[in-house]
Amino acid sequence: MHKPPPAPHFVQLHQTDHAAVRAELAAGLLAHPPHASPKFFYDALGSRLFDAITELAEYYPTRTEAALFAQHGADMAQRVPAGVVLIDLGAGNCAKAASLFAVLRPTAYVAVDISVDYLRGAMGQLQQRHPERPMLGLGMDFSSELALPPAATEWLARHELGGAPRCVFYPGSSIGNFNPIDALALLRQARAVCAEGGPGGGLLIGVDRVKDKAVLEPAYDDPLGVTAAFNRNLLLHTNALLGADFAPARWQHVAFFNETESRIEMHLQANGAQTVRWPGGERAFVDGERLHTENSYKWAPADFDGLLREAGFGPAQHWTDPQGWFSVFWAPV
Ligand code: AVJ
Repeated sequence: MHKPPPAPHFVQLHQTDHAAVRAELAAGLLAHPPHASPKFFYDALGSRLFDAITELAEYYPTRTEAALFAQHGADMAQRVPAGVVLIDLGAGNCAKAASLFAVLRPTAYVAVDISVDYLRGAMGQLQQRHPERPMLGLGMDFSSELALPPAATEWLARHELGGAPRCVFYPGSSIGNFNPIDALALLRQARAVCAEGGPGGGLLIGVDRVKDKAVLEPAYDDPLGVTAAFNRNLLLHTNALLGADFAPARWQHVAFFNETESRIEMHLQANGAQTVRWPGGERAFVDGERLHTENSYKWAPADFDGLLREAGFGPAQHWTDPQGWFSVFWAPV
């Protein structure tokens, strides 16, 4: 006799509205100055190129954060209450959360990503290694609004976890893609998600810090050109989504630290005047014109601490590598 294999539960919330996506892309291309959301980096190839970026010697955030979890994970786990539901924002391959299972011992795992399809493979394998731990895969875009949908609350209730404390996990400095105003809004919503669970919950978040340009800029403009390929791939993805005719070879990768705004900016710069066409629209670019594709904000720890307080969290604490490049914050509800 065999028990049925344990299986994660999946809910796809946000149905991709192709017309809305096309309208958003076209509006950005037609704007002055033109821009595109960094979410358009991540088609199948873009996700793989990002994984390659994290292997580069110059791209310190991923490995610095991993070292912080390895070295201080047990200390972090002491702040997180027992029996916590781990809610992983932008879970992707679920590897970061999975590496924390041993120290955090979460009672259940909720992985959130824009596409539930991306979660299926990783969560299936994870469930086999942790057969007794309930797992929910949630397909939703939390970038404009973060809240657990009724389907997730019902799933927690079915597992008698409605009153369990919640730990929202947001690693990788993904918060860096939000300007301070939008970051504050997202943190407030993350706090509300935690506060709806039992007492003791909070936010575990990775934050990239302000540092010397000589360290920051090569991380976003590496000598192998992997980040350049990642940036240009946005044009191929745009061609696929919009039916546009961008020629990626005619666009140059530009990345620099904007000290005033405390952010890395990535742009694609037109190499020669060119007109890009798509069904229902076109945009003429002059030689040297830039399409703004990403902001990656860098925080001073005192400023991020203030942002967490403004979002309603209690006194936070953070762990930092010896070079002072990256911090992981624990902010209690
Ligand atoms: C995924 C937003 C954390 O800002 O460092 C890496 C994306 N862009 N190289 C970052 C990115 C270029 C990354 N985040």
